[in-house]
Amino acid sequence: MENNSSVVLQSEKVGVLHLYINMIRKFYKSILALAVVVSISLGNATAQDSTSAASAAPAAGAGGDVAKGEGLFKNNCAQCHAVTAEVVVGPGLAGIEERRDYAWLKKWINNPMGVIGSGDKYANELYAKYNKTQMTAFGAFGDDEVKAILAYVKSAAAPKVEGPVDPNKVTQPAETGGGKFINVILISLLVIMALVLVALLGILQLLNRLSGGESLESSASFGEKLKASFKNIAANKTVRSAIVWAFILLATKATFDGMYGIGVHQGYAPKQPIAFSHKLHAGEMKINCAYCHTGVYKGKQSGIPSANICMNCHNAIKRESPEIQKIYSAIESNKPIEWVRVHNLPDLAYFNHAQHTNVGGLECKNCHGEIEKMEVVQQRSSLTMGWCIDCHRKSEVNGKDNGYYTKLMEAHSLVSKGAMKVQDNGGLECAKCHY
Ligand code: HEC
Ligand code: HEC
Ligand code: HEC
Ligand code: HEC
Ligand code: HEC
Ligand code: HEC
Repeated sequence: MENNSSVVLQSEKVGVLHLYINMIRKFYKSILALAVVVSISLGNATAQDSTSAASAAPAAGAGGDVAKGEGLFKNNCAQCHAVTAEVVVGPGLAGIEERRDYAWLKKWINNPMGVIGSGDKYANELYAKYNKTQMTAFGAFGDDEVKAILAYVKSAAAPKVEGPVDPNKVTQPAETGGGKFINVILISLLVIMALVLVALLGILQLLNRLSGGESLESSASFGEKLKASFKNIAANKTVRSAIVWAFILLATKATFDGMYGIGVHQGYAPKQPIAFSHKLHAGEMKINCAYCHTGVYKGKQSGIPSANICMNCHNAIKRESPEIQKIYSAIESNKPIEWVRVHNLPDLAYFNHAQHTNVGGLECKNCHGEIEKMEVVQQRSSLTMGWCIDCHRKSEVNGKDNGYYTKLMEAHSLVSKGAMKVQDNGGLECAKCHY
């Protein structure tokens, strides 16, 4: 009699505890399901890219003239001149206004060969000193332009005074931001799983005690208790299914990573027919990207330079080098140099450089990485749809000096407090990127 009632009592308690365990099991499964969904969607949207950055608005210069001069200098002079005393192709321009008066400088910049031809002694000595390298003439530059350039050269050559932090300046997020995010999620999931395990452990022990499990008499040592709990855990269906789930989760992630990798050429760096180095030309010599990639601020394609652009310098520089001889033979045989294409979107996608570099104010390195440090060009971003979309979600529209956007941004501020992002301007619409 006594025995019987205690069995009934215990089985009731066991029933309640089983209910608990079932609840935990369900909780567990939903966490795992959530984990799969989250990691897939994140893997799609963010894991792709390491170099995309939020819109990097160019830092504003101190005065209007200097800012204008900086743009003019970088686009027209920087490939041959530094603002320091360092020689690039031509002399460093630091202190130029002490060497020459304004009238001479204006004449020189408008027509250097004219000044040399006029017999100007200084000009002829300089010309001889620089191996008769002809400086490009900028006949269209008026006083405004020349003064702006000189103001910029002066301000850039002077020691820098730290100004207030420019709120428009966006720093590059740490590389592999997307990948890290996923790791954080996975790790927190592991922590949650561990916590649930600990809770299970406690409940199992309680269950054991209530059902009168002998092995867990209060007299049993701690070690024995622990051993018994582990045995219980190993025998527990929930735990075993959790382990199976964990494997499924990892396998799924690996599969999806693999699938998204198809057709992605991140890291592609083919050997080129001529050992042309961006590190030397764009890095050390600081030739402006647009000097060679002439379309990059103006059109859809940035374009690859023709051999003639190389000849602006190489008709005089390193003629004897076998690599440079390849440029000569291309010109002589009238065949273009067959550069191997590195970046290549499929035909179904539309991408426009000017929209991003000129209108959006993005820098090349936001998408291409630091080309000026590469001996051989390498594709640094994945160029997947997820990569484009991800940046459009994060980046603000560049409204600076753009009357067209001022109106739109005013309208946007009526409906939303946040800054206007590219996505708010249709940057996620299929037709914007697909023909
Ligand atoms: C293709 C290369 C090239 C470009 C582009 C170029 N220069 Fe020059 N520049 C030279 C060379 C080379 C000299 C030295 C004289 C010579 O050989 O003609 C020179 C000389 C000068 C001098 C005289 C320097 C001194 O020490 O007296 C000034 C000033 C100057 N350039 C300004 C400019 C400005 C401003 C621009 C842009 C608007 C510019 N240059 C663009 C190559 C260039
Ligand atoms: C002196 C000329 C010159 C300058 C300056 C120059 N490039 Fe290039 N660039 C080339 C040539 C030539 C190629 C094709 C050969 C190669 O890939 O190296 C090229 C290729 C590239 C490619 C790969 C194109 C493809 O096939 O997908 C990118 C991206 C690029 N340049 C970016 C830049 C950036 C960014 C800068 C400025 C930091 C720059 N370039 C400056 C000449 C130049
Ligand atoms: C603004 C001037 C300038 C332009 C434009 C330019 N280069 Fe150069 N290039 C140089 C200078 C300077 C050197 C370094 C020469 C030295 O090492 O003394 C050089 C070096 C090279 C070398 C290494 C040669 C060797 O054997 O060391 C190659 C290859 C080369 N350039 C290819 C090109 C190609 C291809 C283009 C056109 C896409 C080009 N360059 C455009 C100035 C220029
Ligand atoms: C590093 C960030 C970044 C990446 C990566 C990027 N974009 Fe953009 N995109 C922008 C910004 C910023 C603008 C807004 C420019 C503006 O109008 O101010 C823009 C605008 C556009 C627009 C015009 C949208 C409109 O509403 O007018 C198109 C189309 C576009 N991007 C296509 C692409 C495609 C295709 C890719 C991928 C191959 C891509 N973008 C990758 C930042 C990015
Ligand atoms: C918003 C991202 C983005 C920015 C910013 C950007 N590019 Fe590109 N670039 C691309 C994409 C995407 C492609 C591939 C385009 C294609 O295949 O149609 C590309 C291709 C190129 C190519 C190969 C030739 C061509 O025109 O397709 C060159 C060269 C190049 N970029 C140079 C530059 C230079 C120089 C800058 C900076 C002045 C720059 N890019 C800025 C995304 C960008
Ligand atoms: C910001 C630009 C952008 C927007 C917006 C965009 N796409 Fe794409 N999409 C791309 C690019 C770039 C590719 C090529 C990616 C690659 O080669 O990996 C692509 C590829 C695709 C593909 C082909 C996938 C494949 O494996 O070849 C489909 C289908 C597609 N997009 C559909 C859509 C649909 C539907 C929308 C609207 C909901 C959309 N896209 C919006 C840029 C965009």
